[in-house]
Amino acid sequence: MTTTKLKPDWAGDDLLSRLVNRAIQTPVLYALMKRQARRVLIQTAEKNGVAWRQTCVDLDTPALRQRLDELTNPAVVYPDYYQVPFHAYSEGNLCWQAAFEAAPATYAMALRVWPQENLSWQEAQARLRQSFLNVLDQYGPAQVHDILDVGCSVGISTMAIHRHYAQKNAPTNPVRTVGLDLSPYMLAVAQFQDTQHEIAQWVHGAAESTGFPDASFDVVTMQFVTHELPRQAGRAIFAEALRLLRPGGALAIVDNNPQSPVIQALPPVLFTLMKSTEPWSDDYYTFDLEMALTEVGFEPPVTVPSDPRHRTLVARKG
Ligand SMILES: C[S@@+](CC[C@H](N)C(=O)[O-])C[C@H]1O[C@@H](n2cnc3c(N)ncnc32)[C@H](O)[C@@H]1O
Repeated sequence: MTTTKLKPDWAGDDLLSRLVNRAIQTPVLYALMKRQARRVLIQTAEKNGVAWRQTCVDLDTPALRQRLDELTNPAVVYPDYYQVPFHAYSEGNLCWQAAFEAAPATYAMALRVWPQENLSWQEAQARLRQSFLNVLDQYGPAQVHDILDVGCSVGISTMAIHRHYAQKNAPTNPVRTVGLDLSPYMLAVAQFQDTQHEIAQWVHGAAESTGFPDASFDVVTMQFVTHELPRQAGRAIFAEALRLLRPGGALAIVDNNPQSPVIQALPPVLFTLMKSTEPWSDDYYTFDLEMALTEVGFEPPVTVPSDPRHRTLVARKG
């Protein structure tokens, strides 16, 4: 009998996981891995048509940089878990380099999902977003007017969901979408690229306490955010999403699927690099999202392996 493993052996408290963690905590080794990871990531992306370095050059303009002050909410308090190195940036998401590289990194990520299919990065990105939206269409609310994209980063996920519902809704029911992120650098890029002002607001804030009124959204999304959080933060954000949703509304989450055979069989070099740049991996891969969502008050969620590497959860508010 074959049993489905709930998580990869390289995450959590297994021996393999602990060995990997020890390697990562060795400063010389960590510095080496970081440098190597960046080199491989950029080279592979550019080989596949993602203009990684050129995108950064194009974005780095005074017009964009000056948005930082306008977008920064000085009242925002950064949680400790957020102020650690992430994705090989020593300042985590709180720097220009992370913001300029976020879009190319997102395009490269989608390309890794269907490596055998020779997709262009544009096709892979569209398919990644559509596979999530298909699950939301099936299990989310029929009527969607107000959407909050939590952890919107540079706005790729925000724009995809906004355009999806803008196209679906009748002209009499225009969709209003808000993007929220803790990094004002990411938001500056998002706002700069939203040239047609499609998104109602780009908000600097913590997803745990957004300040929006109760029952003000039909859909809240967390797209590729949960794996960047320790579980207590995930739980607090789920509770906040429940407060923000109208009855019948849905929280939709897409992220790495711990049960994915592809994720479980990642080569050691890749999972070590992944763990070395994503500090909350062990917590994420052992976090029972379904249970946490139910415990904060959602109806039992639906979970669908929406692509070979990711799962989508849709949790409704009763
Ligand atoms: C991997 S990115 C998300 C990418 C984006 N949603 C997409 O699908 O392209 C994760 C984002 O979550 C943001 N984030 C992490 N913790 C947060 C929190 N507590 N509140 C708001 N944003 C947060 C980070 O700043 C980062 O921009």
